[in-house]
Amino acid sequence: MNNKKILVTGGTGLVGSHLLYELVSKGSFVRALIRDKASIEKVRKVFSYYSNNENNLIDTIEWIKGDILDIVSLEEAFENISIVYHCAAVVSFNNKNKSALLKTNIEGTENIVNLCIEKQIEKLCYVSSVAAIGSTDNGDLVSEKEMWIPADNHSLYSISKFKSEMEVWRGVQEGLNAVIVNPSIILGPGFWETGSGEIFKKASKGMLFYTLGKTGFVDVRDVTSAMIQLTESNISGERFILNSENHSYKDLFTEITEAYGVKSPRFNAGKKLMNLAYYIDSLLSAVGIKKQEITKSIVKSSLNSTNYTNNKIKETLGFEFITIKESIRFAVEKFNQEIKAS
Ligand SMILES: NC(=O)c1ccc[n+]([C@@H]2O[C@H](COP(=O)([O-])OP(=O)(O)OC[C@H]3O[C@@H](n4cnc5c(N)ncnc54)[C@H](OP(=O)(O)O)[C@@H]3O)[C@@H](O)[C@H]2O)c1
Repeated sequence: MNNKKILVTGGTGLVGSHLLYELVSKGSFVRALIRDKASIEKVRKVFSYYSNNENNLIDTIEWIKGDILDIVSLEEAFENISIVYHCAAVVSFNNKNKSALLKTNIEGTENIVNLCIEKQIEKLCYVSSVAAIGSTDNGDLVSEKEMWIPADNHSLYSISKFKSEMEVWRGVQEGLNAVIVNPSIILGPGFWETGSGEIFKKASKGMLFYTLGKTGFVDVRDVTSAMIQLTESNISGERFILNSENHSYKDLFTEITEAYGVKSPRFNAGKKLMNLAYYIDSLLSAVGIKKQEITKSIVKSSLNSTNYTNNKIKETLGFEFITIKESIRFAVEKFNQEIKAS
């Protein structure tokens, strides 16, 4: 597959930058869609975690300016491409980003799927999320088979990921070769100010409170490795949960704070306290004192308990996941190195 031309969207994000590294270090020809060339520095930093040759590796990438909502730029990006990895999305639980979130994730994926069909792309790998999978009533492990029920009380992000994934399934119905991955919360270094990367920045200062919820976590290196293996296989029209381990938030944050050597959370922030924190945060953001950080979706998901199975990917590829302890060790090491260097 090395001589096939690959297009990556979202290459300047957490998943995309780690994916770019894995692809170019294998010698693949890669074109990456980019909105702002200054973002290449984020990718360079990620490459430097793994190689001293980051500048040469970055130079092998063909950067192409474009936006998944701009079909003209996408037409150009798709020229002579055989394989597409679609990682671009807005990852946010803040309702203030409502229109950008829905439009980018759903319409952007629709554009990618349509071009994949029109240009007869050999294979599309789409990064969905466990947010696009349903839940179980009885606490059983959630598998790929659980149907997402529209009537449930979903976050906008979850709605956007479900509808985006539906675009890919529509493409499969129309003959597109596609594979979908549904990662749980992705842990990885480099994006400390956004998305799941913020977990490491927040925990670095120590924590007082934990919430009772539980969910799945996966290392970004496992996400990219599974994406490449699935894309290079002859599997199509299937989705795969990518989840290393299920942990309570208390255990996860205790593990991260211990890795930093700072205070671990000791007090349970129950529903009442979480709601109070939400109202105070909303008030401060409404009067412009701070950016809203705690949203209703965050309150809800921090109290929810969901456990995901990873049997399908293990059985299909014989995949072995990096432990969450090791994911945390790796990300905390990179965080500390950056803080010392700055
Ligand atoms: N992080 C998680 O815990 C997690 C868990 C499950 C699934 N996922 C899924 O994994 C995928 C990647 O997430 P991530 O964590 O890597 O997100 P991220 O770090 O926020 O990166 C998002 C990427 O999408 C790009 N992008 C956003 N809007 C775009 C547009 N209109 N046109 C072109 N590019 C655009 C961003 O470009 P700029 O650099 O220009 O902003 C960035 O490269 C997403 O589909 C997400 O839903 C993430």
